[in-house]
Amino acid sequence: MNHPALDVHLDADELSRALRGDVVAGLTADQKWLPPKWFYDAHGSELFEQITELREYYPTRTERQILTDRAAEIAGHTRARSLIELGSGYSTKTQLLLDALTAAGCLETFAPMDVSPTALTEAAGRITADYPGLRVHNIVGDITRHLKHLPAGGDRLIAFLGGTIGNLEPAERAAFLADVRAVLEPGEHLLLGTDLVKSPNVVVPAYDDADGVTAEFNRNVLRVLNSSLDADFDLDGFAHVALWNAEAEWIEMRLRARWPMRVTIPGVDLVVDFASGEEIRTEVSAKFRPEGVRRELSEAGFSLNHWWTDRDGLFALSLATATG
Ligand code: SAH
Ligand code: AVI
Repeated sequence: MNHPALDVHLDADELSRALRGDVVAGLTADQKWLPPKWFYDAHGSELFEQITELREYYPTRTERQILTDRAAEIAGHTRARSLIELGSGYSTKTQLLLDALTAAGCLETFAPMDVSPTALTEAAGRITADYPGLRVHNIVGDITRHLKHLPAGGDRLIAFLGGTIGNLEPAERAAFLADVRAVLEPGEHLLLGTDLVKSPNVVVPAYDDADGVTAEFNRNVLRVLNSSLDADFDLDGFAHVALWNAEAEWIEMRLRARWPMRVTIPGVDLVVDFASGEEIRTEVSAKFRPEGVRRELSEAGFSLNHWWTDRDGLFALSLATATG
């Protein structure tokens, strides 16, 4: 049996330090916020997988369809020896790329990077069993901080799927794309999934499903603070809110206090007061237009080679090359 290699750039201490820094910054701000990466403990990663199966949540099945149609072309164009996946989670759709790159006879290494060790471990077990000749190199790390630890070239394809790029704030996104470009050699590739601008009548239900799974996912960040920092958030005291921000063209998820609350967070020595109706912004999920994706890629030093969408124009996959 082939054993996956494991690099940990976020051990428990580092993770806890990063969480504490974000909690202090976010919950002492005038407009309270928390970064979305803290949704994904074991329970949050599992909840996200449940979201991907929801009738209202179109991005996953749509991107899977595009990958099904285009994986052979992606393999033929890139001839990648290494597939690196950022924010890989359970890597469920990635199997389509692994199959195509294996069939093309070029793939040697798969290196997923995620903040969630449980998701990585689950995926690695499945992938090492299904692809016996493949070297699997798991990397526990933060894609906004640890890209310099990605395996060295060449012939690498970095995949960033699911539309997770939309969960970065615009300045963070530009810095991230520049960092991705900086770790690649000219001629290496980026495969980027982006959710597209569409009617709020389609987008909003995807983030506010009838079964309340997304609400549970949103509140999970408070559960993480309770278990990691010994906080005493009353989860029932916070309503899930999903709003379409038409100007920014993104969904905002927020948690709205249903009544006034005082929350103590001993892990950071903080007491936080909430007025009734006060909100914590927990995620943005930006939706893109073709010209915006092309521009952002070009500003970061990529040229866009292929732009693929589904029949209904809901989601796009871009294949780009790092320019010299
Ligand atoms: N790529 C998968 C999973 C998307 S869910 C898909 O398309 O279905 C988003 C994933 O990104 C989660 O697994 C989460 O743990 C990870 N993630 C979020 N922020 C991250 C960060 N800053 N660094 C590394 N991983 C991150
Ligand atoms: C991971 N990411 C692309 C998801 C999204 O659609 O923005 C996270 C999510 N948030 C609520 N539902 C799903």
